Amino acid sequence: MSEFDRKAATWDQDAAKVARAERVAEAIRDMVADLAGRHALEVGCGTGLLGFALRPHVARITLADTSAGMLEVLRQKIANAGFQGMEALQHDFTQGPLPEARYGLVCSLMVLHHIPDTEAALRRFHDILEPDGLLCMADLDSEDGSFHGADVTDVHLGFDREALRAQLQRAGFQDIRFRTPFVIARETGQGPRQYPVFLVAARRSA
Ligand SMILES: C[S@@+](CC[C@H](N)C(=O)[O-])C[C@H]1O[C@@H](n2cnc3c(N)ncnc32)[C@H](O)[C@@H]1O
Repeated sequence: MSEFDRKAATWDQDAAKVARAERVAEAIRDMVADLAGRHALEVGCGTGLLGFALRPHVARITLADTSAGMLEVLRQKIANAGFQGMEALQHDFTQGPLPEARYGLVCSLMVLHHIPDTEAALRRFHDILEPDGLLCMADLDSEDGSFHGADVTDVHLGFDREALRAQLQRAGFQDIRFRTPFVIARETGQGPRQYPVFLVAARRSA
């Protein structure tokens, strides 16, 4: 059982995680004028907090995660809501052959720092987008390691925006724009800290 499997049942009880997803969804809607009609893919959807907030604004949404525990909670939420056009999928889009499906929007929230090879993942996200498709990713700005603590060593310590912009450009993206839709407030061993969350929107070349 993974860390995320263990956390799945109580994930939505954290009001800050719910607010974070809502603010990021609002920012995506604000930054992307032409969301309607797109088939969205959320990579690392967890319990679907971002996906549920985006669902009314896209044609349909595929919610993918590697954690069986997260997907179990998500499937129950979809069934309870009775929503059409929401599909839960256990899949890692950063590895293995790419599926045939192409998407009009690929999005993620707090997932990129868990993916070891950022640039390879960006190239794959580029390749699963339709021409003119959009990538919207939210994650931590560069931090000193205190966000996850010293015991967690298999994550990126946030991202430098200009370095990420260059990686996106090398992966084939254009029209790259950043915002700060949310700031995570957290108690750490060194006292209260604030961790800004960026949202980057980028467009695949047509
Ligand atoms: C910090 S949680 C964020 C969950 C959700 N996006 C949210 O903000 O509530 C990271 C999620 O990414 C998933 N994840 C990590 N690496 C992944 C990968 N390569 N492919 C799909 N999901 C991944 C984890 O299982 C976990 O559910």
